[in-house]
Amino acid sequence: MASKRGKLIVFEGLDRSGKSTQCERLVTHLRHQGQKVEHMRFPDRTTPIGKMISNYLSGQTQQEDHVIHLLFTANRWELAKAIESFVKEGTTVVVDRYYYSGCVYTAAKGVSGLGLDWCRQPEVGLPRPDVCIFLDIAAEEAAKRGGYGEERYERKEMQDRVRELFGELREHHDEREDIVVIDAGRGVEDVEEAIQKAAVKAWDVVEQSGLPLRKV
Ligand code: TYD
Ligand code: MG
Repeated sequence: MASKRGKLIVFEGLDRSGKSTQCERLVTHLRHQGQKVEHMRFPDRTTPIGKMISNYLSGQTQQEDHVIHLLFTANRWELAKAIESFVKEGTTVVVDRYYYSGCVYTAAKGVSGLGLDWCRQPEVGLPRPDVCIFLDIAAEEAAKRGGYGEERYERKEMQDRVRELFGELREHHDEREDIVVIDAGRGVEDVEEAIQKAAVKAWDVVEQSGLPLRKV
C-alpha cells in the first residue's frame, strides 16, 4: 500500500552555500504540485532557547562549548514532536539545517572531548530525515557571496573544517545513506533542478517501500 505520510527533507551545507534560497524554491515547487509543506529552519531563533542561540551567534553573549552545543540540540528537540505530527498527517517538512550542522559545527571548534561521536549522542532519537541534501561549495566560493563574516563561525578556517567534517560524517557514520551531495557552485536554476531530482528519487523510495519515519 502506498504511504500517505509526508517526507522529511533536510538541507545542509556551509554558510552561504545557498540553503535558504534552495529551501524556499523546493517548498514553492512542492506546493505548486499540490503538496502540503511546512518550512522549518534551525536554529529556530523564535523560541526562548533560540533567542539564547541567536545572541551567542551574534557575539552578544558567551556560552561554554558543551552548553551551546546542547542548546542547539534542545532547539531541535523542542520541535521534534511537531515534525513527527506533520509527517504523520501527510505534510512534508523541509528543514534548513538540522543535526548534521549540530554535529559538525561544534566538532569543528576542535575542543578536546567534543568530537563528532560525542556531539552526535544528544541527537539520537530525533526524527531521521528521508533525505539530506548537502549543498557542496568550497569555503572560498561561499565567502564571495554577500553578507559573509557577520556571525560567529563565519570564518574561513572554521568553514574549511566544517566542510571536512561534513565529509567525515558522510563517510563514516549512519548518515551516509541519507546524504545526497549536490554541487552548489553552479547557477541557481541548475542547482534547483538537481535538488528536485534528488527529492523525487528519495520520495519514490519512501512511497514504494512504505518506510515509516525513522529515528536518528
Ligand atoms: P544559519 O543557518 O547560518 O543562520 P542564518 O541563515 O540566519 O545565518 O545558522 C547559524 C549558524 O549556526 C551557522 O553558522 C551554523 C550554526 N549551527 C550550529 O553551530 N549548530 C547547529 O545545530 C545549527 C543548526 C547551526
Ligand atoms: Mg549563516
